[in-house]
Amino acid sequence: MRVGVLTGGGDSPGLNPAIRAVTRRCITEYDDHVLGIKNGWDGLINGDVEPLSLYSVSGILPKGGTILGTSRHNPLNKEDNIQRIMQNVRRYELDAVVAIGGDDTFLVAEKLAERGLNYIGIPKTIDNDLGGTDMTFGFDTAVTVAADAIDRLHTTAEAHHRVIVVEVMGRLTGWIAVTAGIAGGADCILIPEVPFTMDETCDMLTKRHKHGKNFSIVVVAEGAYPKEMGKLYSKTGKVDEYGHLVLGGIGEVIAKQIEEHTGMETRTVVLGLLQRGGSPTPYDRVLATRCGVHAADLVHQQKFGYMSALRGTQMTECKVSESLRTPRAVDQKLYQVASVFFG
Ligand code: F6P
Repeated sequence: MRVGVLTGGGDSPGLNPAIRAVTRRCITEYDDHVLGIKNGWDGLINGDVEPLSLYSVSGILPKGGTILGTSRHNPLNKEDNIQRIMQNVRRYELDAVVAIGGDDTFLVAEKLAERGLNYIGIPKTIDNDLGGTDMTFGFDTAVTVAADAIDRLHTTAEAHHRVIVVEVMGRLTGWIAVTAGIAGGADCILIPEVPFTMDETCDMLTKRHKHGKNFSIVVVAEGAYPKEMGKLYSKTGKVDEYGHLVLGGIGEVIAKQIEEHTGMETRTVVLGLLQRGGSPTPYDRVLATRCGVHAADLVHQQKFGYMSALRGTQMTECKVSESLRTPRAVDQKLYQVASVFFG
C-alpha cells in the first residue's frame, strides 16, 4: 500500500516516536511505501510530501516536535482546499493516510472521509482530553514539566512567603493541572470541570495562612475561570481557524484578585509552550510507539475512520466519530484526592 502520514494541530511530545513506529511497521511488516505529508493538512493542499524510509526515521525517537512539521490551518474553510487535498491523494496514489492529531485534525479527517479519504487516526494532545482512549501521548511529558516547575516554585514561594499562581495548559479539561498539582503538592487547583468563586479560593488561602503556612501554590488550568467572570479568559482575544479562543492569562487575573483580597504578595508563572517542548518521557515514547504500530495494523485491516486507543493497559481501537463526541473530563475521584491537600 501507499500510506501517507501527517501530524496536525498543536505539537505533543511523542509525535516523532509515532511517525517512526508507523513507518517502521508499514515498511518491515507490510512492504508499504510511506510518504510524510508536511505541516498537517497544508502538505496535502500544496502537494508537499516526501518519502519516509527506515533511514529517515532512524534516531528520531527521543526528539520533541515533529520531523513533518504541523499547523493549525483549517482546510475546511475553503472548498478549493478540499478539492486540492483529494487531487493530491489521487496524485500520490495514497491508499490511506495516518493522521496523528487531536479533535481539530480528526474533524477535518472525518469530513475528507466523506469525499473518499481512507484514514486512520492516532490521538495526541498534552491536554489528555480526547474521548475513546484512556490517555494520549504528550500528557506525561507535560505533567513532568509542570510538576518540576511546581517543585521549583515551592522553594522560592516558601522563601519569600508568597502565593504563586501557576498557569498550565488545559483548554476544556484540567488533567495537567490536577495530575501535576497532586505530584507537586499544590495547595489549590482550579480546573474547568469544577466551578469555583474567587471568594472561596481567597478564603481558603487566608485560612491556610492563619494556620501557619505563609506561602501557597495555586495551579490553574488555562480554561478555568471563576463563576463571577462567567466566561473563558484570553489575554489576546485572538481566535484560531477552528474558532477556538487562544487562551492564556487567567493566572494573572486570578493572582491580582488573590493579592487584593488576601493582602498576600502574589506572583504568576505561565508555563505555556514549555509543556509541549522537549524530549518525550519514556512513558510517552512507549505509548506513541504502541499507537503507531497499532495504526499501521489498522491500515492493513482497512479499519478506516478508526484510531488507536489505550484501554487500561491494552492497545485497541475506537471510531474517531465516537471519540469526538465528548471530551474526556477529569475523573471527579482524582480531583477529590487532590482536594484532600488543599488549604
Ligand atoms: O491543544 C492543546 C493545547 O495545548 C491547549 O491546551 C492550548 O489551548 C493550545 O494547545 C495552545 O496551542 P497554541 O499555542 O499552538 O495555540
